[in-house]
Amino acid sequence: MKGLILSGGSGTRLRPLTYTRAKQLIPVANKPILFRVIESLRDAGVTDIGVVIGATGPEIREALGNGDHLDVRITWIPQRSPDGLAHAVRIAHDFLGDQRFVMFLGDNVIEGGIGGLIEDFTANDWNSQIVLKEVADPRAYGVATLRPDGSIERLVEKPAHPPTNLALVGIYMFDHHIHQAVRAIEPSARGELEITDAIQWLIDAGFHVAPHVHEGWWIDTGKATDMLEANSHALAELSPVIAPDCAIENSEIDSRVSVQAGARIRNSVLRGPSIVGCNTVIENSFIGPFTSIYHDVCVRNAEIERSIILEHSSVCDIAARLQDALVGRHVSVRRAVGKPQALRMNLGDHSSVWIP
Ligand code: TTP
Repeated sequence: MKGLILSGGSGTRLRPLTYTRAKQLIPVANKPILFRVIESLRDAGVTDIGVVIGATGPEIREALGNGDHLDVRITWIPQRSPDGLAHAVRIAHDFLGDQRFVMFLGDNVIEGGIGGLIEDFTANDWNSQIVLKEVADPRAYGVATLRPDGSIERLVEKPAHPPTNLALVGIYMFDHHIHQAVRAIEPSARGELEITDAIQWLIDAGFHVAPHVHEGWWIDTGKATDMLEANSHALAELSPVIAPDCAIENSEIDSRVSVQAGARIRNSVLRGPSIVGCNTVIENSFIGPFTSIYHDVCVRNAEIERSIILEHSSVCDIAARLQDALVGRHVSVRRAVGKPQALRMNLGDHSSVWIP
């Protein structure tokens, strides 16, 4: 079976981070989401993978290379503009041929891998399998209505009044009939070719679309709050490792903390689940649970909890604890000295600051 990863899109809801970086490359628990997606496919035996890329294509190509370091083979599928998930399937037809395939959205993180799903799809003659998850507020997702016998009756995209709380997870399996479906549908009101419309076309044409209700956690990392949530889940699953070549001095580090190569920690308290990246320096600080600090960061005289701090940033001499923060690359958060004792900031477009 082939794999298709969707890694184009515009990521508008994750601005300002997505002005300068593909959202699929933002790390959770210090590993880019896209790498997690590829590992899920590879671990399920899918190694021939097409990756749909858009404006952020060069950065994604550089990060993945030819896929050798992840033990997969990658074929690049450029998409001129983000015209929808079904449009991505249209342009991937040459790569997919008439084979059965699994499509995985490059910004989705799911618990427990997809090996079982692929086995089910391989063992049955279904034309498609979709994954559903009960969520509290399904208005931002495709939503499914099931018949009493458990089969799918209807799918609607981002309904204002959801008929059920069963959201469509970003993992789909198809046989070649999907190519007929994506050619048959028209763009939706928001101008995209919707995968929900293509799946509805399959259902209406009498093809067998099997639903699977996922019991574990699943995060579609569209917004900053979703990133923090995915980070917390991924950290909770991490098996903690302290790299042999890190330097730890006069610090209290609990058993759920990972420290990566070359990190230096002095006079600090670290509570897990949390991770400190390569060559990062933590001094006179507190790092609380659910915090991921990426490589080459400096944290000095500060407290951070349930946050993600990306590479080459620094957080220094801060009296208040940073919490629920998503801090980009090369960011400096520091105490102002001298007068006036006011909040001073230099923020990019679409930034947010919460002041108590
Ligand atoms: P979305 O999160 O639905 O769209 P987006 O990335 O454009 O984000 P936003 O709504 O915040 O602007 O996309 C889900 C995944 O599919 C994501 O990895 C991007 C990818 N994608 C494509 O590859 N091509 C497309 O045409 C679209 C719409 C998304």
